[in-house]
Amino acid sequence: MSGLETKFLNLTLPNPFILAAGPPTAKGELVIEAFKAGWGGAVLKTISLEPTPLPKPRLHVIKSGRDKRGMLDIELFSNLSVERWEDEIDMIRASFPDRPLIASIAGGGSPPDWQEVIRRLEPHRVSAFEMNVSCPSFAGGKGEKLGQNPEALEKAVSWVREATKLPVIVKLTPNVTNINFFAKIAMDAGADAFTISNSLQGLGGIDLDTFSPLPSVDGIGIIGGYGGPGLKPVSLRCTANVAKNLPLPIIGCGGISNWRDAAEYLAAGASAVAICTAVMWNGIQIIDSLTKELENYLNRKGFASPTDLTGRALPNIVTFPDLDLSLNLVASIVNEICNGCGICVKACTSGAYQAITIVEDLAWVDLLKCSGCGLCVGVCPLNAVRLVQSVN
Ligand SMILES: Cc1cc2nc3c(=O)[nH]c(=O)nc-3n(C[C@H](O)[C@H](O)[C@H](O)COP(=O)(O)O)c2cc1C
Repeated sequence: MSGLETKFLNLTLPNPFILAAGPPTAKGELVIEAFKAGWGGAVLKTISLEPTPLPKPRLHVIKSGRDKRGMLDIELFSNLSVERWEDEIDMIRASFPDRPLIASIAGGGSPPDWQEVIRRLEPHRVSAFEMNVSCPSFAGGKGEKLGQNPEALEKAVSWVREATKLPVIVKLTPNVTNINFFAKIAMDAGADAFTISNSLQGLGGIDLDTFSPLPSVDGIGIIGGYGGPGLKPVSLRCTANVAKNLPLPIIGCGGISNWRDAAEYLAAGASAVAICTAVMWNGIQIIDSLTKELENYLNRKGFASPTDLTGRALPNIVTFPDLDLSLNLVASIVNEICNGCGICVKACTSGAYQAITIVEDLAWVDLLKCSGCGLCVGVCPLNAVRLVQSVN
């Protein structure tokens, strides 16, 4: 029988699902309700010395038809003061004295900016600090984030390290070319773990009547943070990159919508996962299906705990020269399933090697033309195409 208990640093979580910093952790009563619902831990909305006002509006849900693809936000840190957070944390601790409760913090260009927040919050029994390094960099140019500037990152992590014996988790930004470079700087400056990752810089869209960005505040807007399903491949890649190269534990974060996404992050090297957008869209109750279905999967695979899954995929994530380029696969249509809709024909004709046509109302593959790219497998709505070993 599998269990979901998860060890992360010195913390024990009842399951690997953590509420990421954001609106679902913007006040104590929300966190209490989430813990009651069964969440394994929570990262509080980022706390800084001065409360941050909230732009209105600040969210734009990006859709394709009725499907939600992601969300653009222009929200920064918590609008509550540090004093207020001291009370909120006390309230959470009165109901849940031991559940992992991580304080996300952000500061500026001098040690007290970070250390004062730590000094104030630590006595209220937070379990760890997560550094939000997606805040403006004090060392770099306009618009640069702390997590994009090596010198600034190194300084800020060492100030935080100096100020606390609690675990220090650095939440890396994916908006860099080489995430390992920044992860190593954070590790060398004293980080104990990473959250990977924060949101991707994005522009939610343009209103074609007013030419305002989406979202906009009275017609003007800023580059925001893109999260939700569209972020997953980027953050998953960042997670695997860092997990392959550095020994620190990772909280995987970005576009997790269901137990599968979470399991993939664990397989890519994360020890726990954090979720924001999916909770904002569907409510804290998603924890029920996340935990049940992850547990079922672990049972099916014979894994005793989420830890058994951590990093399982890493040996299979390689670089191009490691691929066996002699492997010869071709598409094969399952005639019993194909209904001759022709979607694969269009895709193959314009996007691949013109190998598929409709013959007697069914898709037919010319094996001499098929290059085994897999496009038809992906676009078939009925799952009627397989890749098989070529006999030629
Ligand atoms: C409205 C909103 C506010 C957020 N606020 C914070 C924050 O205060 N601190 C932080 O580190 N991340 C913040 N995030 C980023 C999330 O914690 C998370 O890293 C990101 O959204 C990717 O995860 P997701 O795809 O599950 O949403 C926020 C995200 C959203 C959508």
